[in-house]
Amino acid sequence: MFKLAPSILSADFGHLAEDVKKIEEGGADIIHVDVMDGHFVPNISFGAPVMKGLNGKTGLNYDVHLMIENPDQYIEDFITPQTEYITVHQEACVHLHRTIQNIKSKGIKAGVSINPATPVSTLECILEDVDLVLVMSVNPGFGGQKFIPGALEKVRQLAEIKKAKGLDFIIEIDGGITLNNIQEVLEAGVEMAVAGSAVFGAEDVVQRVKDFKKF
Ligand code: DX5
Ligand code: ZN
Repeated sequence: MFKLAPSILSADFGHLAEDVKKIEEGGADIIHVDVMDGHFVPNISFGAPVMKGLNGKTGLNYDVHLMIENPDQYIEDFITPQTEYITVHQEACVHLHRTIQNIKSKGIKAGVSINPATPVSTLECILEDVDLVLVMSVNPGFGGQKFIPGALEKVRQLAEIKKAKGLDFIIEIDGGITLNNIQEVLEAGVEMAVAGSAVFGAEDVVQRVKDFKKF
């Protein structure tokens, strides 16, 4: 059974608490929190105070996706009792190993993400240390973009390495996931899938989450 991580980037920020309650009702597994700084990506979303406003509103944990420069400076801000994963970008971390250890030292699961133009081989020396690898299937910065098919091959490569080396990181995909391509990404080896516009853009959000969870 895969995990569905709806991204609140596509939720109604005026009714965020109601929106997360809907995804919980539908059976979502975790809340994907997209943090953008206007530097690493060409868009600004929201920061830790907005995420913390959701504390206690649902029983769901947070899957924090930091699309920011200097993530070390902000990791502490995102730690709450509901924070399960904090993921940083390979491309944003000069000392990736240190950053991953820093996250783990705080009792939080650590993830690393790669952009569409970054090969899996850049993660070779960190895969043993991470709890999650997030493959971007769009260029990060915006919700509602089209899925980039090259991400599938990266997922397959990661699944192969994971098996061959007996590692236990989970494979997540993010960007352009819909009911039409979810089957394909799961077959490639995805264990956790992010969906933003495909969930919150639906007329009936609760039903849309249920439809995803049927796969
Ligand atoms: C992209 C974000 C994604 C995005 C997904 O920069 O990291 O999480 O919100 O949105 P959709 O599912 O609409 O592509
Ligand atoms: Zn994301």
